[in-house]
Amino acid sequence: MSRIQKLSVLVVAVMSIGSVASHDYGDALTKSILFYEGQRSGKLPSTQRMTWRKDSALRDGSVIGVDLVGGYYDAGDNVKFTFPMAFSITMLAWSVLEFGPSMGLDLQHSLDAIQWGTDYLLKATSVPGVVVAQVGDPYGDHNCWERPEDMDTPRTPYTVSKESPGSEVSAEIAAALAASSMVFRRFNQTYSASLLKRARMVFEFADKYRGSYNDSIGSWVCPFYCDFSGYQDELVWAAVWLMRATRAPYYWNYVLANIQNLDKTSSFAEFGWDAKHAGINLVKSQAPYTPEPFTTNADRFVCSVLPESKTVSVSYSRGGLLVKPGGSNLQRPAALSFLLLVYSRALRRDKRVVRCDNVVAKPDRLIQVARSQVDYLLGSNPLNMSYMVGYGDKFPQKIHHRGSSLPSVSQHPQHIDCDGGDSYFWSNNPNPNYLTGAVVGGPDIQDQYSDSRVNFVHSEPTTYINAPLVGLLAYFKTH
Ligand SMILES: *[C@@H]1O[C@H](CO)[C@@H](O)[C@H](O)[C@H]1NC(C)=O
Ligand SMILES: *[C@@H]1O[C@H](CO)[C@@H](O)[C@H](O)[C@H]1NC(C)=O
Ligand SMILES: *[C@@H]1O[C@H](CO)[C@@H](O)[C@H](O)[C@H]1NC(C)=O
Repeated sequence: MSRIQKLSVLVVAVMSIGSVASHDYGDALTKSILFYEGQRSGKLPSTQRMTWRKDSALRDGSVIGVDLVGGYYDAGDNVKFTFPMAFSITMLAWSVLEFGPSMGLDLQHSLDAIQWGTDYLLKATSVPGVVVAQVGDPYGDHNCWERPEDMDTPRTPYTVSKESPGSEVSAEIAAALAASSMVFRRFNQTYSASLLKRARMVFEFADKYRGSYNDSIGSWVCPFYCDFSGYQDELVWAAVWLMRATRAPYYWNYVLANIQNLDKTSSFAEFGWDAKHAGINLVKSQAPYTPEPFTTNADRFVCSVLPESKTVSVSYSRGGLLVKPGGSNLQRPAALSFLLLVYSRALRRDKRVVRCDNVVAKPDRLIQVARSQVDYLLGSNPLNMSYMVGYGDKFPQKIHHRGSSLPSVSQHPQHIDCDGGDSYFWSNNPNPNYLTGAVVGGPDIQDQYSDSRVNFVHSEPTTYINAPLVGLLAYFKTH
């Protein structure tokens, strides 16, 4: 081999490593936010960019005389589950609070995505003493493969009240409204104040009338978004956000008095739509002079995630993806990486490192792990496959999503009824409409992905997979 040939081999090798590692985070950010337009329920505005979607569910709430039009469809179905929806809004708001300055022109789209959610959460809590926990009969909905624009399944609202409480769903709404009030403070003080006022009211309701919506609305929420981890974590989580938003000592005292109620054994490592524990410790650790147990718990959380730590409690695939048991796995690397990134900034500020036995983790290591997860998701993986629709050359084509897999109303204005959707569900064709930016449940622990509409555990997007990713992508876009 001549020197020139050797040199070109070297250049090619370096370039291919480079091309694996570098991603267009700005493009992915834009798309990750656009996804929320595809999940919109209600009357779409003239600014709607994802135009294959049309108005839908315009009579939601009419059976109980409350306007419940709007909000987000949860995933590939057309139910509005308020508990995970509120968590998604909390995470979008947290993403903007941390990384908004890196978002550029996408900041406005993020604000729109948050407001589409908060406008709905205001409607869902407009009757004092009542919180709308869900709209849409989940059994009826799941039995039909229908576009949201065609829906004729029961749009039953399910509510919690003083007599039949639901502290987890109510407190998560309070957290979402409080975090969003901080986001909007700079942009619209009136709106911000109304969000905060409602957050305080809903928190009081959640705290005073304690109970799980498991018991109040039972089989309408279980097994879909059954509250496994209890409602104590949401109460403390909401108080943490209200503390940040109001700086009122009342909420800080509440956090200190109730943090003991949280299960201490392993929950410090949990974070998602159900369990908020790791997030509680992280938010608190962002304030200087944090008392125990927050910092210790946040450090323990890091040690439970870092692959080199002896106390690691998550698994990694050979390709490097963080995996935990349960469906829609990409929600976990997204949410946990978001926490790692946020915590790395607190560590830097306090000039600290995390010690996991003999392993010393500097802030940069936390960022590196977070970046590896984002890169995996965007295509640096054994299949060279992006798990975000519309990002990269190879991405899921047959996602488990009714609207995306059925022809758009503009192409096919005739009604497609419940059974009429079956042939589209079973079809081997790619989905006709790109739900751009949607991140699916993702590959299995063998790094394999079958791109099958039937396999919803892997091929379904959800609002809460994308929400922390919005913050991560904004950061990596500028760093
Ligand atoms: C601010 O929020 C209020 C209350 O929601 C709304 O009526 C008003 O139009 C908003 N102003 C701007 C400039 O968006
Ligand atoms: C909710 O129901 C699930 C499933 O039955 C159960 O495991 C969980 O402990 C319940 N949560 C609460 C807070 O009661
Ligand atoms: C992924 O890309 C790498 C580098 O370009 C290549 O060597 C490998 O064969 C690709 N794998 C698949 C499954 O396409």
